Amino acid sequence: MSGYSDWPMRAIARKLGAPYSICEVMIDSFVSTLKDRAKTRHHLLVTDNDHPVGAQLMGAAPDEFPSAARKLVEAGFDVIDINFGCPAKKASGRCRGGFHLGQPDVAIEILRRVRDAVPSETPVTVKMRRGLDETHQSRDNFFRIIESAFELGIAAVTVHARTVEQKYVGPSRWSFLKEVRQLFPNRTLLGSGDLFTAADCVRMLQETGVDGVTAARGSIGNPWIFSQAAALLRGEPMPPPPTVHEQREVICAHFRLAEQILPRDQVSKQLRKFCIHYSAWHPVAEAVRTAFIAVRNAHDWHQVIAREYAFEQPGRYPANPGNAGQTLEGSCVEPG
Ligand SMILES: Cc1cc2nc3c(=O)[nH]c(=O)nc-3n(C[C@H](O)[C@H](O)[C@H](O)COP(=O)(O)O)c2cc1C
Repeated sequence: MSGYSDWPMRAIARKLGAPYSICEVMIDSFVSTLKDRAKTRHHLLVTDNDHPVGAQLMGAAPDEFPSAARKLVEAGFDVIDINFGCPAKKASGRCRGGFHLGQPDVAIEILRRVRDAVPSETPVTVKMRRGLDETHQSRDNFFRIIESAFELGIAAVTVHARTVEQKYVGPSRWSFLKEVRQLFPNRTLLGSGDLFTAADCVRMLQETGVDGVTAARGSIGNPWIFSQAAALLRGEPMPPPPTVHEQREVICAHFRLAEQILPRDQVSKQLRKFCIHYSAWHPVAEAVRTAFIAVRNAHDWHQVIAREYAFEQPGRYPANPGNAGQTLEGSCVEPG
C-alpha cells in the first residue's frame, strides 16, 4: 500500500503473524534510476527478517519493466508483483496501473517481459482490478489478461473486485472472485477488497474459495488482523483485543523502526498516520484519535503515548472497523 507498507509496517505485520507482505508500489523508472542515497535507499530495503516479501512495480511501457524488475530481485525481494490496479489519475493519466486493463496487448507484453527478465525461480505475480468499468469489453479484457498471465507462468493473481472507475467507492464484488475461482480452479488466486476484520478475511476465503486474502486498509494500525484471522482459521475463538500496554509496545516498536529509515522530522508525521488507526483499539478511542490528529512533532507524539497509554487496561475491538480506513484512497505516488 502506497504510503503505508514500508519496511517498518511490514516488520510489525510480520512479527504479529503476517505470512507474506508486499511493499509500496514503485514506478519502474524510479527503481531503475534509484541511487544509493540516504533519502530513498529505504524503498529497496529488505532485511533477513523480511521474507517472503514482494516488490510491486508499475509503469507504462513494457520496455521499462525488465531492468527495474531485475534490480528489485538483486535488492532481495522474493516476488515481483505487477500493478494493473491503481486507479489514481496520476497513474492512469500516465498510462500506468489500472489503465493497462483497457489495453490487454500491452498488459500481456509487460507480463511476458517481466517473466522473461527475472530468474525462473523468482515468482512473478500480478494485481488486477476486475476491469476498467462495468462494460462487457472490460470484462473480456480482464479474462484475456488473466488467462494469458497464467499461460505465461505468472505464479498468482490478486484480484481487487472493484473496477478502476469505482476507485474505492462501493463494495468489492466478492461474487466476481468466486466466478474467477471457478474458471481457474487450479491457479493461485488471492482476493482483495473490504477486508477490515479477521472475520472478513475468513469470510472471503469461505465465500469465494480464493487461496489467500490480502489485507489492505484493514491492516493499517491493525497488525493484529493477521494472528486473529489465523486463530479463526484454526477454529479457535477470536483472541481478546490487545491490552493498552500491548498496543503501546507495538506502536513504540513501529516508531523505533521508522526512526531507522526516515529523516527525523518525518518519523512522527508517518507514525501519526498509523496511530490515528491504532487508536481504534484504545478504550477511549475517540479521545486518543483526536490527540494523535493534533500531533505536530515527535515531542507531541511522545506526550500522547505517555499520557494515553500509561495505564494497563483491556483494549477494545474497534467500534466501526473500516470506517476510518474507508476514507483512505491509494495514491500510488512516485516515491522519493
Ligand atoms: C492508501 C492506499 C494505498 C494503496 N496502495 C496500493 C499499492 O501500492 N499497490 C496495490 O496493489 N494496491 C494498493 N492499494 C489497494 C489495496 O491493496 C486494496 O486492493 C484495496 O484497498 C482494496 O482492499 P480493502 O478494501 O480491503 O482496503 C492501496 C489502497 C490504499 C487505501
